[in-house]
Order: sequence, then C-alpha cells, then structure tokens
Amino acid sequence: MSQINNLNIPKIIGHRGVKNLAPENTLISILEAIKIGLKWVEVDVKISRDEIPFLLHDSSLNRTTNGFGEANLYNYSEIKKLDAGKFFYKKNTNIYPPTLKEALNLCNDHSIGLNIELKPNVGFEKQNVQKVLEVTKEFEKKVPIFYSSFDIESCISVKQINPKAHCGILIDNCDIENLLRLINKYNFFSCGFHIKCFSTKLVKTLKKNNIFATVYSHENIAHNEALELWKLGIDSIFSDDPKNLLISN
Ligand code: G3P
Ligand code: MG
Repeated sequence: MSQINNLNIPKIIGHRGVKNLAPENTLISILEAIKIGLKWVEVDVKISRDEIPFLLHDSSLNRTTNGFGEANLYNYSEIKKLDAGKFFYKKNTNIYPPTLKEALNLCNDHSIGLNIELKPNVGFEKQNVQKVLEVTKEFEKKVPIFYSSFDIESCISVKQINPKAHCGILIDNCDIENLLRLINKYNFFSCGFHIKCFSTKLVKTLKKNNIFATVYSHENIAHNEALELWKLGIDSIFSDDPKNLLISN
C-alpha cells in the first residue's frame, strides 16, 4: 500500500521553480514562485564532480548556463562561477546554479515544500542519491520534501537509505501495468506522468491504489487542461507559469 499525502502537497507545484517566469532551477526562480503564492516547487538535482548536489536539469551545462560539457566533469566551485540567467534574460547576470542546500534554506525561510527530482548524470545514480540525502537530512524536520525520479534505481536507493522518505516514480511512457507493479513492489508514494499518457482509467487505477497522481508536460499546462485534470482526479500539476491558475483557483 502506498503512502497518503500527509505532506499537504497543493494542486499546483512550480516546475523548476517557475521556469517561464525566471531562469529555471535558480534561487530567483524559487523566489518568483514564492512571490506569486506557490507553496511547493519542483527542482532538478544532480551532483558535481566533487559530489555537491546542485540544481540543473540537463546532463550538460550548455543549454542553461554559459558553461560547456557534462556537469559532473566540474567541481561545484567552477559551476558556481557560471551564469545561469543569461539564457533567459539574454544578457549577463550574476545568477548561478545554486546548491541544493541553498534551495532548501530558501524553502525553509519561506515555509514552502520542495519536490527534489533526482536527475543524476548517467553512471552516478547511487552517489547522487547518497549525497542528496546527506544534505536533506538536516532539513527533515524543517522542509516538507518529496523525491521523484525517472530513474527507478534512484527511487529504490532513496527508500533503502531512508524507508520513511516519500519517493515518486516519473514515467515518460504509458505502460501502466508495469508502473503499478513497480509502485506496489517498492511502496512509492506518487506517480508523475506526461500529460500525453493521461486517461481516466489511469487516474482511477492510481486512486484505487492510493497513489498520489501528478502530471507534467513539456509545455506550460493550459488553464482549461489543468481544470480538466483536477476534475478527473489528478492531485497536482507541474506548472511553468501558474499565474492564471492561481487567480481562478
Ligand atoms: O517532475 C516533473 C517534471 O519535472 C519532469 O520532467 O524533464 O521537466 O524534469 P522534467
Ligand atoms: Mg524535473
């Protein structure tokens, strides 16, 4: 049996902070989410060469910073020097890829929850989970946290290290039978699936199995889509720009 939502996760989780309103996975993106009234944000986390967990979506630094190459080839002191705001504002900024610890301190200061998506570079899955959980340990009683990952091994590792942790599996295919088997086998808390996999049958199955259901998309989830998803039983959506949703919600 999976765990219930005792974390008070709301219907809207900011995606990578709020990625359409500020540079994704930065402190300013989390602050923007707080400013518009969100109570939870999602961020992507991986480790640097010296095993410091920090916020970055891609395996490489190319798209969202002025650095180049695989992120785990660099120590965090080098990553901290990079500009993580230029791709968004189209001019130089002093915005850098923050550590997970900085993000958690910010969440703690503003009493919001954090969904940590474990986004390891390939081959570093185990170290990634270990180092992330070392950082989150000191925030256990301060910040509501749930982990998630497309990498099932990362989720299994989370539960091995901390059986009480909430970890949810993310899927980018629509193989529901396999998904249910994994969720029940490993006692995962939630399932996040791409909006293209949405069906009432899927939601009903998740609900019947007491699984917290989330939906993400590669585009901002539109107002009418969000209303429909909630109506049909989705618990939370990841939103790139939830301003319209917050007004009508
Ligand atoms: O956790 C939901 C969502 O963040 C998954 O997709 O690629 O934006 O990390 P992605
Ligand atoms: Mg993510």
